[in-house]
Amino acid sequence: MSVLITLEKVSKTFLTDEIETRAINEISLAIEQGEYVALSGQSGCGKSTLLSLLGLLDSPSTGQYTLAGKVVSTLTRNQRAEIRSKEIGFVFQSFNLISDLTVLENVMLPLTYQSGLTKKVIEDKANAVLEKVQMGHRKNHFPSQLSGGQQQRVAVARALVNDPKIILADEPTGNLDSTNAEAVLQLFEQLHREGATICMVTHDAASAQRASRRLEMFDGRLIKDSANQQQTTNNVQAIDVAVG
Ligand SMILES: Nc1ncnc2c1ncn2[C@@H]1O[C@H](COP(=O)(O)OP(=O)(O)OP(=O)(O)O)[C@@H](O)[C@H]1O
Ligand SMILES: [Mg+2]
Repeated sequence: MSVLITLEKVSKTFLTDEIETRAINEISLAIEQGEYVALSGQSGCGKSTLLSLLGLLDSPSTGQYTLAGKVVSTLTRNQRAEIRSKEIGFVFQSFNLISDLTVLENVMLPLTYQSGLTKKVIEDKANAVLEKVQMGHRKNHFPSQLSGGQQQRVAVARALVNDPKIILADEPTGNLDSTNAEAVLQLFEQLHREGATICMVTHDAASAQRASRRLEMFDGRLIKDSANQQQTTNNVQAIDVAVG
């Protein structure tokens, strides 16, 4: 396993009307390729802010972010946009599909910003990911003609179409009933089995349990990491074994 993401003492401060909010407070974190990370914590603790930093929608106020071996915390907005379009797939709670584009066109969209791809190649890729999320049969529909669960599966296809290094999902099941939420969670599990790296924000403990690693935030800080707990347990076991 190789490390995909490294945050070193990353902080993010917002200044609005002279009120300073430290949304992210010195978070250090490494995420390996192929991990499925669930991020939880109470409202306002900084989950979405952390996701937007990871997804290069924004840059840290201080600290260093390394993505796939490249320091990305000091890039300009345009440089970030370029990497984002190639390396990051986003899934949002509210689907964010474009209403006057068809399903197929929505999924093709991220690739149309990349130069050097023919329309045929883009369409083939979009069709392939739509099949993967079992939405190929709805490719000529418009978002309003789909159920919420179907819209979210299309949104997942759109996130996958550029073959991203990491999929970032902010409460992807938050607007779905339990059946559709289950379908999205199963899709994430399938992607994880196939090797995708995923970081999903969720309020739901049962959903978080299904990830391979659980992080918990409080007030801008990372307060729990199941990977470290595992380590602690292993250490305890090792000590037990050593002591006999
Ligand atoms: N663009 C911004 N400008 C000013 N303050 C912001 C901005 N974005 C977030 N914040 C503040 O940063 C803190 C963290 O917000 P964030 O949206 O990351 O929380 P969250 O954990 O995603 O919450 P929720 O579970 O409600 O979605 C909040 O206090 C919020 O008001
Ligand atoms: Mg949020």
